[in-house]
Amino acid sequence: MATRVIAIASGKGGTGKTSIATNLGIALAANGKDVTVVDGDVTMASTGIMMGLKRSPITIHNVLMGEAQIEEAVYEGPKGVKIVPAGLSLERIKRLDYDKFKHIVNELRPSNDYIIIDCAPGLEKDAMAALTAADECILVLNPEPTSLADALKVKALAEKNNVKLSGLIINMHMNEKSEIRNGELEKLMATRVIASIPFDSHAKKASSTQSPAFVKFPESNFALGISQAAAFLLDGKVVTKVKKGIARKIFESIATIFKRP
Ligand SMILES: Nc1ncnc2c1ncn2[C@@H]1O[C@H](COP(=O)(O)OP(=O)(O)O)[C@@H](O)[C@H]1O
Ligand SMILES: [Mg+2]
Repeated sequence: MATRVIAIASGKGGTGKTSIATNLGIALAANGKDVTVVDGDVTMASTGIMMGLKRSPITIHNVLMGEAQIEEAVYEGPKGVKIVPAGLSLERIKRLDYDKFKHIVNELRPSNDYIIIDCAPGLEKDAMAALTAADECILVLNPEPTSLADALKVKALAEKNNVKLSGLIINMHMNEKSEIRNGELEKLMATRVIASIPFDSHAKKASSTQSPAFVKFPESNFALGISQAAAFLLDGKVVTKVKKGIARKIFESIATIFKRP
């Protein structure tokens, strides 16, 4: 298959981009795909941390500064997913050449089925470099008005730069009346909801122990939502009912991961 480069983006910070990008990468890798998750929020460096990566002497910072080749900044994570982490040095951040980002990502294409870019929030240079390096993007929204307003801006910028909006992931919903409904979000954003992930304390527990929720709490609602998004990327269909046809098959193949030690 042709490599798909997918940006996981949102206008607002804290919507769950890193949690989703890392766990989605693991879910796809566990389904036999070659996957690399690239930290595109290079001033924060949380992708590697959330993946439980212990040591990463060379990071995307070195590559963006022209000091290292991209292959030197690739590390292995859970279920065989590969990770390109960012570094922790604040001094280096000032000297990064964001114009190189797209080129770096393109160099990863031949060895991957999926490249997932964990984007920075906002509309600054770092966020734009990560978003526009992708072919398509998935926007992560919390079902509240500010999140929606920001997502609309990102959608406009993505489309202006020929990055296709593939769908929305609604994260941290609490089934409260005040929340914007999926149907409304789909209308306003003119795209589909590919997964709905409830607020789930397992997600927080997992990130605080640096072990991805998809691996640590495979039966959690968070992991189920990730499976729903992974199924969409594998099959192109939005899975709402788990019991029928292809959807069931995909869920079963994802479910086999749940049973692995
Ligand atoms: N569905 C969820 N339920 C509960 N907490 C979540 C969920 N998704 C993410 N979180 C938590 O929210 C915080 C922000 O998530 P993160 O993935 O870092 O967001 P972003 O990358 O968009 O800033 C983290 O503490 C994470 O564990
Ligand atoms: Mg993040």
